[in-house]
Amino acid sequence: MIELGVNIDHVATIRQARKTYEPDPVWAAAEAELGGADGITIHLREDRRHIQDRDVRLLRETVARKLNLELSLADSIVAIACGVKPDQATLVPEKREEVTTEGGLDIVAQAARTREALRRLHDAGIVSSAFIEPDTKQIEQARTLGFAAVELHTGTYANAKDESAVARELQRLTEAGELVRKLGMKLHAGHGLNYHNTVAVAKIAGMAELNIGHSIVSRAVFVGLRQAVAEMKRLMVDAVGSR
Ligand code: PXP
Repeated sequence: MIELGVNIDHVATIRQARKTYEPDPVWAAAEAELGGADGITIHLREDRRHIQDRDVRLLRETVARKLNLELSLADSIVAIACGVKPDQATLVPEKREEVTTEGGLDIVAQAARTREALRRLHDAGIVSSAFIEPDTKQIEQARTLGFAAVELHTGTYANAKDESAVARELQRLTEAGELVRKLGMKLHAGHGLNYHNTVAVAKIAGMAELNIGHSIVSRAVFVGLRQAVAEMKRLMVDAVGSR
């Protein structure tokens, strides 16, 4: 089966636009779960532009399924993760000036820092995932460092403009997915996935989890979060059925 992790960061983005109490990501998580989300994904950024510490604490208590915390290698954020103990921690790159996460974490170049963050997360009993490019060296390094899962960055695929570029990126993801599984890690993917481009990624053999945020929250503006989540889940389940 395939799992949908609904990223609710942008519910918090709307709240932070006015620094008020609404809309509450805790409420959003409940709606997403009622719509069929298998997990809730949040990114506690160092600049706290959307998700706040209070959200992480409350969601840890209220999320009924799986809480997936995205975090950078920053010491202070790793310490929060170890205290909160999400069900899964996904290590991601983070730059202050970026609009959203740009590309995967380079765990080859940042091997020492990644190893140390991973040691602390594993000591706290947290399942680990690495958000990386669909690249052989990065995937092999994820295995060497001991990650339980790899989340392949689908941003380049999502941004591909013409058919041949889309096919090329899909092929890269498919081959990368094969390697992830061959090395014994769980296969996840995410970033830039929407109601048009998700099916092809969900069809990749062994794809176990997709983390999707912006597109679902955007659709929710018109149809409500519960329905937006249910529609995405249906696309994914049907895709797996026709693998
Ligand atoms: N996965 C990871 C690791 C991410 O950083 C993000 C964005 O926060 C997502 C998935 C979701 O991306 P999108 O909002 O484009 O669906």
